[in-house]
Amino acid sequence: MNIDTMKILEACHELEKNMAKIYSIFCEEFKQDEELSEMWQKTAREEENHALQFRMALKIKEDLVESAQVDLSRIMNSLEAVKSILKRTRENPPTPLEALRSAINLERQLADFHLDCLASFKNAFHKDMFQAMMKADRDHVETLERAYLILFDAAKQDIPSEPAR
Ligand SMILES: [Fe+2]
Ligand SMILES: [Fe+2]
Repeated sequence: MNIDTMKILEACHELEKNMAKIYSIFCEEFKQDEELSEMWQKTAREEENHALQFRMALKIKEDLVESAQVDLSRIMNSLEAVKSILKRTRENPPTPLEALRSAINLERQLADFHLDCLASFKNAFHKDMFQAMMKADRDHVETLERAYLILFDAAKQDIPSEPAR
Protein backbone atom coordinates (compact mmCIF):
# COMPACT_ATOMS: atom_id res chain seq x y z
CA MET A 1 0.00 0.00 0.00
CA ASN A 2 1.53 3.32 -0.93
CA ILE A 3 1.63 6.27 1.43
CA ASP A 4 -1.14 8.20 -0.28
CA THR A 5 -3.49 5.24 -0.20
CA MET A 6 -2.80 4.86 3.49
CA LYS A 7 -3.28 8.54 4.16
CA ILE A 8 -6.58 8.58 2.29
CA LEU A 9 -7.88 5.53 4.14
CA GLU A 10 -6.76 6.98 7.46
CA ALA A 11 -8.46 10.30 6.72
CA CYS A 12 -11.62 8.43 5.63
CA HIS A 13 -11.56 6.51 8.90
CA GLU A 14 -11.22 9.71 10.90
CA LEU A 15 -13.99 11.36 8.90
CA GLU A 16 -16.47 8.58 9.62
CA LYS A 17 -15.49 8.66 13.30
CA ASN A 18 -16.17 12.39 13.46
CA MET A 19 -19.49 12.01 11.63
CA ALA A 20 -20.48 9.39 14.22
CA LYS A 21 -19.58 11.83 17.01
CA ILE A 22 -21.61 14.66 15.51
CA TYR A 23 -24.64 12.42 15.03
CA SER A 24 -24.32 11.05 18.58
CA ILE A 25 -24.42 14.61 19.91
CA PHE A 26 -27.54 15.29 17.82
CA CYS A 27 -29.09 12.11 19.22
CA GLU A 28 -28.47 13.35 22.78
CA GLU A 29 -29.44 16.92 21.99
CA PHE A 30 -32.82 16.11 20.43
CA LYS A 31 -33.87 13.40 22.89
CA GLN A 32 -37.27 15.01 23.45
CA ASP A 33 -38.21 14.01 19.89
CA GLU A 34 -37.99 10.23 20.13
CA GLU A 35 -38.28 9.51 16.43
CA LEU A 36 -35.70 12.11 15.43
CA SER A 37 -33.30 11.05 18.16
CA GLU A 38 -33.55 7.40 17.09
CA MET A 39 -32.78 8.39 13.51
CA TRP A 40 -29.60 10.16 14.64
CA GLN A 41 -28.61 7.19 16.76
CA LYS A 42 -29.05 4.76 13.89
CA THR A 43 -27.09 7.04 11.55
CA ALA A 44 -24.30 7.44 14.12
CA ARG A 45 -24.07 3.66 14.44
CA GLU A 46 -23.79 3.30 10.68
CA GLU A 47 -20.93 5.82 10.58
CA GLU A 48 -19.17 3.84 13.33
CA ASN A 49 -19.51 0.79 11.13
CA HIS A 50 -18.05 2.68 8.16
CA ALA A 51 -15.10 3.77 10.31
CA LEU A 52 -14.54 0.12 11.22
CA GLN A 53 -14.53 -0.87 7.56
CA PHE A 54 -11.87 1.72 6.78
CA ARG A 55 -9.80 0.49 9.70
CA MET A 56 -10.02 -3.04 8.37
CA ALA A 57 -9.08 -1.86 4.90
CA LEU A 58 -5.94 -0.32 6.42
CA LYS A 59 -4.92 -3.67 7.86
CA ILE A 60 -5.07 -5.52 4.55
CA LYS A 61 -1.67 -4.75 3.18
CA GLU A 62 -0.98 -7.49 0.65
CA ASP A 63 -1.77 -7.01 -3.02
CA LEU A 64 -2.97 -3.49 -2.51
CA VAL A 65 -0.25 -1.65 -4.35
CA GLU A 66 -2.15 0.67 -6.57
CA SER A 67 -1.92 4.32 -7.29
CA ALA A 68 -4.77 6.31 -5.92
CA GLN A 69 -5.34 9.42 -7.99
CA VAL A 70 -7.44 11.06 -5.34
CA ASP A 71 -6.60 14.61 -4.40
CA LEU A 72 -5.44 14.25 -0.82
CA SER A 73 -6.02 17.93 -0.05
CA ARG A 74 -9.71 17.46 -0.78
CA ILE A 75 -10.20 14.85 1.89
CA MET A 76 -8.15 16.96 4.29
CA ASN A 77 -10.49 19.89 3.63
CA SER A 78 -13.54 17.71 4.25
CA LEU A 79 -11.97 16.44 7.42
CA GLU A 80 -11.33 20.00 8.62
CA ALA A 81 -14.93 20.93 7.77
CA VAL A 82 -16.28 17.98 9.73
CA LYS A 83 -14.03 18.76 12.71
CA SER A 84 -15.10 22.38 12.82
CA ILE A 85 -18.78 21.34 12.67
CA LEU A 86 -18.10 18.97 15.56
CA LYS A 87 -16.46 21.78 17.54
CA ARG A 88 -19.28 24.21 16.77
CA THR A 89 -21.89 21.57 17.64
CA ARG A 90 -20.29 21.08 21.05
CA GLU A 91 -20.02 24.78 21.81
CA ASN A 92 -23.30 25.88 20.37
CA PRO A 93 -25.89 23.17 19.65
CA PRO A 94 -27.89 23.81 16.47
CA THR A 95 -31.67 23.66 16.13
CA PRO A 96 -33.04 20.34 14.80
CA LEU A 97 -33.50 21.86 11.33
CA GLU A 98 -29.99 23.36 11.29
CA ALA A 99 -28.55 20.02 12.37
CA LEU A 100 -30.31 18.24 9.51
CA ARG A 101 -29.23 20.86 7.01
CA SER A 102 -25.54 20.70 7.86
CA ALA A 103 -25.63 16.89 7.93
CA ILE A 104 -27.25 16.80 4.47
CA ASN A 105 -24.48 19.06 3.13
CA LEU A 106 -21.78 16.93 4.68
CA GLU A 107 -23.25 13.71 3.35
CA ARG A 108 -23.50 15.16 -0.16
CA GLN A 109 -19.90 16.29 -0.02
CA LEU A 110 -18.82 12.85 1.12
CA ALA A 111 -20.84 11.07 -1.56
CA ASP A 112 -18.96 13.11 -4.19
CA PHE A 113 -15.65 12.37 -2.57
CA HIS A 114 -16.33 8.65 -2.31
CA LEU A 115 -17.35 8.63 -5.95
CA ASP A 116 -13.96 10.15 -6.82
CA CYS A 117 -12.23 7.50 -4.74
CA LEU A 118 -14.24 4.80 -6.44
CA ALA A 119 -13.03 6.02 -9.82
CA SER A 120 -9.42 6.48 -8.77
CA PHE A 121 -8.66 3.36 -6.79
CA LYS A 122 -7.53 0.46 -8.93
CA ASN A 123 -8.13 -2.35 -6.54
CA ALA A 124 -11.46 -4.22 -6.58
CA PHE A 125 -11.63 -4.44 -2.81
CA HIS A 126 -11.29 -0.67 -2.46
CA LYS A 127 -13.65 -0.02 -5.34
CA ASP A 128 -16.35 -2.15 -3.72
CA MET A 129 -15.82 -0.47 -0.39
CA PHE A 130 -16.08 3.06 -1.80
CA GLN A 131 -19.12 2.05 -3.84
CA ALA A 132 -20.82 0.85 -0.66
CA MET A 133 -19.79 4.03 1.18
CA MET A 134 -21.17 6.23 -1.56
CA LYS A 135 -24.45 4.33 -1.49
CA ALA A 136 -24.61 4.71 2.28
CA ASP A 137 -24.02 8.48 1.99
CA ARG A 138 -26.83 8.75 -0.53
CA ASP A 139 -29.13 6.72 1.69
CA HIS A 140 -28.28 9.07 4.54
CA VAL A 141 -29.07 12.10 2.39
CA GLU A 142 -32.46 10.55 1.60
CA THR A 143 -33.25 9.74 5.23
CA LEU A 144 -32.14 13.17 6.43
CA GLU A 145 -34.07 14.97 3.71
CA ARG A 146 -37.21 13.06 4.64
CA ALA A 147 -36.76 14.00 8.30
CA TYR A 148 -36.11 17.61 7.29
CA LEU A 149 -39.36 17.84 5.32
CA ILE A 150 -41.41 16.32 8.13
CA LEU A 151 -39.89 18.71 10.66
CA PHE A 152 -40.19 21.66 8.35
CA ASP A 153 -43.90 20.98 7.80
CA ALA A 154 -44.43 20.57 11.54
CA ALA A 155 -42.65 23.87 12.22
CA LYS A 156 -44.86 25.61 9.67
CA GLN A 157 -47.98 24.32 11.40
CA ASP A 158 -46.76 25.77 14.69
CA ILE A 159 -46.96 29.27 13.23
CA PRO A 160 -50.39 30.61 14.19
CA SER A 161 -52.45 31.29 11.10
CA GLU A 162 -54.71 34.29 10.53
CA PRO A 163 -57.96 33.86 12.48
CA ALA A 164 -60.90 33.04 10.19
CA ARG A 165 -63.42 35.83 9.82
FE1 LIG B 1 -20.43 7.04 6.34
FE1 LIG C 1 -23.28 9.07 6.28
